[in-house]
Amino acid sequence: MNEFDTKVVNPTGKKSLTELANPQRRNILISTAISALFASQDIFARANKNEPLFGFESVPYSLANDDIHIPNGYKWAVVAAWGDSIDGKAKNISPDVSDRSSDQEKQFGMHHDGCAFFPLPVNGNSSVRGIWVTNHEYTDDGLLHPGGMEPWTSEKVKKSQAAHGVSICVIEKSASGDWFVVADSRARRITANTPCLVSGPAAGHELMRTQYDPTGKLVFGTVNNCANGVTPWGTYLTCEENFNGYFVKSDKPSLQESRVGIDSKGFGYRWHEHDDRFNLDKHPNEVNRFGWVVEIDPQDPQSQPIKRTALGRFKHEGAVVTIAKNNKVVVYMGDDQKSEYVYKFVSKRQFNSANKDANKSLLDDGTLYVARYDADGTGRWIALEHNRNGLTAENGFPSQAYVLIHARLAADFVGATPMDRPEWIAVDPHNQDVYVTLTNNTDRGVKLPLNAANPRPSNAMGHIVRWSEAKGDSSGTVFKWNIYTLAGDPHNTQPHLRGNIIGDTFGSPDGLWFDRRGILWTQTDISTSALGVGPYAKLPNNAMYASNPATKEFRRFLIGPKGCEITGIDMTPDLKTMFINIQHPGESPSERSDPAKPKAVSSWPDREKFTRPRSATIAIWRPDGKKVGE
Ligand code: FEO
Ligand code: CA
Ligand code: CA
Ligand code: CA
Repeated sequence: MNEFDTKVVNPTGKKSLTELANPQRRNILISTAISALFASQDIFARANKNEPLFGFESVPYSLANDDIHIPNGYKWAVVAAWGDSIDGKAKNISPDVSDRSSDQEKQFGMHHDGCAFFPLPVNGNSSVRGIWVTNHEYTDDGLLHPGGMEPWTSEKVKKSQAAHGVSICVIEKSASGDWFVVADSRARRITANTPCLVSGPAAGHELMRTQYDPTGKLVFGTVNNCANGVTPWGTYLTCEENFNGYFVKSDKPSLQESRVGIDSKGFGYRWHEHDDRFNLDKHPNEVNRFGWVVEIDPQDPQSQPIKRTALGRFKHEGAVVTIAKNNKVVVYMGDDQKSEYVYKFVSKRQFNSANKDANKSLLDDGTLYVARYDADGTGRWIALEHNRNGLTAENGFPSQAYVLIHARLAADFVGATPMDRPEWIAVDPHNQDVYVTLTNNTDRGVKLPLNAANPRPSNAMGHIVRWSEAKGDSSGTVFKWNIYTLAGDPHNTQPHLRGNIIGDTFGSPDGLWFDRRGILWTQTDISTSALGVGPYAKLPNNAMYASNPATKEFRRFLIGPKGCEITGIDMTPDLKTMFINIQHPGESPSERSDPAKPKAVSSWPDREKFTRPRSATIAIWRPDGKKVGE
């Protein structure tokens, strides 16, 4: 869903950095000093330029129709679609025949996004059985409810809330290579009504307290679960993105509310009509309890999700985790909206590989940083810490809880670099270099000033920025960056659309993930209003590409069905099965379904069997038993 990421709510993004009153900037290291840190380091050099090798032929553009297309020699199959039962029973009873929220609570939700495979048994490396966890980002309520949204009822709100959140189930590989959901006591749904604990510096703060929760430490549910992360201690991170859209406020929003996009309409979910929690006139602090990274232990069905406030509140895309050389836990995070920022969290304590339980609260204690990308190719992580970098009470930041709850305001204040919609971030397993997709920003150079890391006016195609932390220390505060690839057709004569892609052309990169060989998988999310028209006329449906960071080549591996976005990715440890999510197949250019013609754009994946297209996880494998991609 794109329309909600494309507004600009960052007033500072409209000014140049020098216009900002910014006490922190006087204290920055001069960039020559930063450069010296890299003097002996050949950044962005991969040890072996011949790896990884792609062994597949690019999927031709001509195959862009209402189906999945993958290279010759590969197969795919649906693992679990919206409406399938999470315990493998009563498969596919919905969405056609049930409109009950109680059914949806036991089924996969709508619009799958980030996802991960956890091998079973725990701590093993099984590639035939595991826990499957997937986010459900949002609902298209015209499609969710048989017959559409009218009349709008409390039961429909409950079903919509139950179609949000996260699904956890167990899946197994069959002899023929496809995967099935099986019954298991660990299967559960986490929805917009599941009790979640709040931890970290903002837990219990007065801004987190409501009539329903006077402690400020217990929130009902998680929403707009976009991308994800996986920790080395076996937990799953689900990231709350466009949380503002569920709330409405009739009065003029405050500065703090405006900064996350609160207004009188929301995004049309209409939950507030039957659930007061989403009416900010009545419960003004409820919105502060969303916009967090939420940690889930998929192994323990009794465990409660935990909102980790030390990682900051903004429109989280994903949360990719890496362990620094000093064993501190580092989490890279994008804030996906026009002119928002890139963040990272560095834990105070070290990861303990010998004792899983010792890591349980690592994400509660540490430093949140925001990135500044300077014009000379160096960059700096600026700490968002109370009483540092001007984040003092007299400057409007009375506590660390406030800094975290209003992380965007703190990042504005310290002079972070406004980016072209930071989506997924990926860390190269060979050298710890970091890559971020900047999906697009047509206001850049129009309503918003250009900057070195976001240099293209009317950036309809997006780009990928990468950086190398000084001395390879992921926990450090200085880095060198460059632009990995400007998306768009290298042959386009219009400078604002011309890219420098080596290989197959794409636009609007979004999903981004390294497999353990070092193949960089890139998934696209061209909005359905733009697909096939204007600058996107020569691009296929949304697709997935493999890239080799040593050569920068991109090769198209998959084209999705009509109206979908490709998002979410993981592989089994043996690299023989890849899982991805097909989100919102059949979405129309208006990005809202017509309940009278739900299959107007796509009938994927069920064709005549069901009345509506369904988001789904698919598995991709090679019948010859070799690894995916080779
Ligand atoms: Fe949920 Fe920014 O994509
Ligand atoms: Ca999406
Ligand atoms: Ca995305
Ligand atoms: Ca996107």
